[in-house]
Amino acid sequence: MKTLIEGLPKVELHCHIEGTFEPELMFQLAQRNRVSLPYQDVDSLRKAYAFSQLQDFLDIYYQGMNVLQSEQDFYDLTRAYLQKIHSQNVRHTEIFFDPQGHTSRGVPFGVVVEGIARALDDAENQYGITSKLIMCFLRHLDQSDAFSTLTQAESFRHRIVGVGLDSSERNNPPQKFEQVFAEARNQGYLCVAHAGEEGPPEYIYGALDSLHVNRIDHGNSCLQDPALVQRLVQERIPLTVCPLSNTRLCVVDRMQDHPLKRMLDAGLLVTVNSDDPAYFGGYMNENFHAVTDALELNVQQLGTLASNAIEAAFVDSDRKQTLHKELHDYIAAQRNE
Ligand code: ADE
Ligand code: ZN
Repeated sequence: MKTLIEGLPKVELHCHIEGTFEPELMFQLAQRNRVSLPYQDVDSLRKAYAFSQLQDFLDIYYQGMNVLQSEQDFYDLTRAYLQKIHSQNVRHTEIFFDPQGHTSRGVPFGVVVEGIARALDDAENQYGITSKLIMCFLRHLDQSDAFSTLTQAESFRHRIVGVGLDSSERNNPPQKFEQVFAEARNQGYLCVAHAGEEGPPEYIYGALDSLHVNRIDHGNSCLQDPALVQRLVQERIPLTVCPLSNTRLCVVDRMQDHPLKRMLDAGLLVTVNSDDPAYFGGYMNENFHAVTDALELNVQQLGTLASNAIEAAFVDSDRKQTLHKELHDYIAAQRNE
């Protein structure tokens, strides 16, 4: 199974680029930008990655992104992630970024997007990895701030496929962003939102009914509400599930308790993703290994997870067909071994 997972052609749909910032690169860029970090070295930084809830992580995550300043910093960050996922046979990735985490520090929107986009273009040319960029609104801030971010995105509209909603979920329901999502949809953006990670099923309903999202990020708490599960199944709403994130943020106590298999059994369109791999102990392969070991997933279930991600991706039907064919041929070859 280990080698099967490593060779599996994969699609990632939920990864925050700022969450791929490995401590080694963070110290390197801090030195380059003459920024001081409140940690002695890489090891003491890693020791701080002990979280008991989402907010513990977010505090450190926002602190880490302060190091990013120049277009080259965003390029280097994105380049390192793409090299890593290339080594893990990821064929397509949809990356989140948090513009407000940078513009609030005086880093122009364009510096962020151009650095990330240049690395994405290089990876497509060199590795054939295709990608899409999704800008997230920080839900702990006001809707007016999100509107101003949407305006700043106008000159980069062609580079950004969708908008998302992330940061502190509790007490920041999707409804708070109803108008800005309506305007984003009006401008042709696809929409996603984190919902049901720490929040209740009502927040998933809110994402569907107030924000009209195309996918739900996480969605774990849907299992508390059978009618909601039925709706998600019927409407084939994808859920971008993040197993290692869930155990690291104590959304799930132990990997053996992770709901992924129950979600698959219920017929939900679930996918496996890394969320913030530098902080949660692994990229795509490590997430697949963790759930496969703990939940004893079989080849068919792994194939379904990989195929679901292709179905849920924001790419055209030609690209989907190519990805489906490669996956199908890979699984067939494994069966014949
Ligand atoms: N921002 C980065 N990772 C996040 C997560 N798992 N939940 C909410 N906001 C985030
Ligand atoms: Zn996330």
